[in-house]
Amino acid sequence: MADPIFSFLLLLPLALLLLLYFIVRPRPTTVPIKNRHVFITGGSSGIGLALAHRAASEGAKVSILARSFDKLEEAKNYILLSTGIDVTVFAADVRDYEAVSKAVEVAGPIDVLVINQGVFVAQELEKQGLDEIKFMVDVNLMGSFNMIKAALPRMKDRKDHGPGSIALMSSQVGQVGIYGYAAYSASKFGLRGLAEALQQEVIVDDIHVSLIFPPATDTPGLTKETKKRPQLTNIITESSSAMKAEEVAKKALDGIKSASFIVPCNFEGLLLSIATVGLSPQRSFMMAFVEVVAAGIIRIVALGFQWNWYTSIHKWHGQNKSS
Ligand SMILES: NC(=O)c1ccc[n+]([C@@H]2O[C@H](COP(=O)([O-])OP(=O)(O)OC[C@H]3O[C@@H](n4cnc5c(N)ncnc54)[C@H](OP(=O)(O)O)[C@@H]3O)[C@@H](O)[C@H]2O)c1
Repeated sequence: MADPIFSFLLLLPLALLLLLYFIVRPRPTTVPIKNRHVFITGGSSGIGLALAHRAASEGAKVSILARSFDKLEEAKNYILLSTGIDVTVFAADVRDYEAVSKAVEVAGPIDVLVINQGVFVAQELEKQGLDEIKFMVDVNLMGSFNMIKAALPRMKDRKDHGPGSIALMSSQVGQVGIYGYAAYSASKFGLRGLAEALQQEVIVDDIHVSLIFPPATDTPGLTKETKKRPQLTNIITESSSAMKAEEVAKKALDGIKSASFIVPCNFEGLLLSIATVGLSPQRSFMMAFVEVVAAGIIRIVALGFQWNWYTSIHKWHGQNKSS
């Protein structure tokens, strides 16, 4: 007869898997992009441009929106030359609701809306001007509300009624606050509340929300930002190297197509997503299993990170006071 303890240890994970299989919500689905309209804000540079390129290569009808018409034209030509596919461009500022509404109306029904525009300036909150703080919140958070408010009614009325998607480009700094990013973090943490609530509101319309969490990514935006970072921000973030925009775009698009709510972009991001998962939706019972089983150990790792960051901060202040 089998050892009862052995049987219990074997049955426990199976029972947990079975339970998770029945309770995970929303249920798994996929969002096709071939021959469908993918509208990407901030699509003229960095991650947005890589996403537009990738979506076009996979057969989507792509529209991109950003402020500078010249940069949009450059992006359009680059995608045309490398894929032979023509994307439609819209010059508008996401802070201007009327302008984005007009763009969305001209663009026609959207199947996949990727809200990717973003601005980031690292600075200690005490030194950062309120105008710069407001700028980040307005572009990153309010701009996202403007885009969703403009596009959602037409997305709900879309003709082909296949699954739709609203994807929001957050950041790992939207999962954990880091020295120097108080304003940027706040704007990206805000996207999480927006995404969690919105998913509940649009699930009956077969619209699926994805929240993408890239790490540092080699883009024109990052190059500009790293030029004037606080020293402590560099010390705390020095262990992570930047991903390529194309790699992030691939992870992001795969996440959107599999309708994943949380989309990490690398292994470190996966651990961070498990550590910060909270009450967010999870479609995959296997991922839910990993989240449940790994929770305790990942919390220990997280506390280790905090120990490291606070030690660095105290050390840096100690050295700069004595010198
Ligand atoms: N790069 C990173 O390390 C990193 C890491 C994590 C998350 N992210 C996030 O990923 C997204 C893309 O970042 P990126 O590094 O690729 O940035 P990027 O190279 O600076 O590109 C930003 C894009 O957003 C557009 N944009 C900026 N402000 C806008 C506005 N008010 N209205 C409309 N479009 C606007 C820009 O075009 P115009 O200037 O012409 O408007 C450009 O197309 C952002 O949400 C960012 O927060 C980036």
